[in-house]
Amino acid sequence: MRKKVIAGNWKMYKTRDDALDFIYQVNTQVPEREDVETVIFAPSIYLRSLVKRQEKLRIGIQNMHYLDEGAYTGEISLPMVKNLGIQYVLIGHSERRKYYNESDSDVNLKLLKVLQTDLIPMVCIGEDLEIREKGETTEFVGEQVKRAFEKVTAKDAKKVILAYEPIWAIGTGKTATPFQANETISEIRQTIFELYGKEVSEEIRILYGGSVKTSNINDLLEQPEIDGALIGGASLVPSDFILLANAGKK
Ligand code: PGA
Repeated sequence: MRKKVIAGNWKMYKTRDDALDFIYQVNTQVPEREDVETVIFAPSIYLRSLVKRQEKLRIGIQNMHYLDEGAYTGEISLPMVKNLGIQYVLIGHSERRKYYNESDSDVNLKLLKVLQTDLIPMVCIGEDLEIREKGETTEFVGEQVKRAFEKVTAKDAKKVILAYEPIWAIGTGKTATPFQANETISEIRQTIFELYGKEVSEEIRILYGGSVKTSNINDLLEQPEIDGALIGGASLVPSDFILLANAGKK
């Protein structure tokens, strides 16, 4: 059975005070669940403060550079984040692809880098509305997966978490229906099967993201192919996040 992941992506929201306030409110209420990992991808500037105070929540970084060091003003490398005590690295979010021109090849280099450590990479993929309307989602997302996993071994591929986030559903209030999300995720699993075979395709975790909220998360998690959620807006509110972290409880 694949362990579910409920992850919050704070993007460029919350000051350090807000973030600490969130942790204090949420810490004691995030359930200790055998069946779920709960993660917050926070702004890097106060990751250390959160790691020091977090209990059941795990903490991740929203982005990193694929080189160890160099003259790249404003960038953060993996050796810099490794010792902070964080456990996850988000790679290739659609906002990074769109506003910072991150390519599939950047995503691949970052993924290969993270896989050299014991941190867990979460790789985002997803199509825009035009591609969905043209009926080209399967091919587009399949290509993104293939490019992201170039030179990744089967042993390493199992460690990756994929987040399928249709761009038209991010921050728009328009969620993919549970059926649409499940269908595309099952096609992504099929691509993983073609690349790595049955074992990896059955073990790899694939989340859905895009306007997930307390009112729709349970329906999404009920789908057999969906192994959790990556949540933006709704993860910012402590009371909502607690509900989200408890979602899908049997
Ligand atoms: P949203 O963002 O939940 O606000 O749509 C999701 C994401 O960008 O990961």
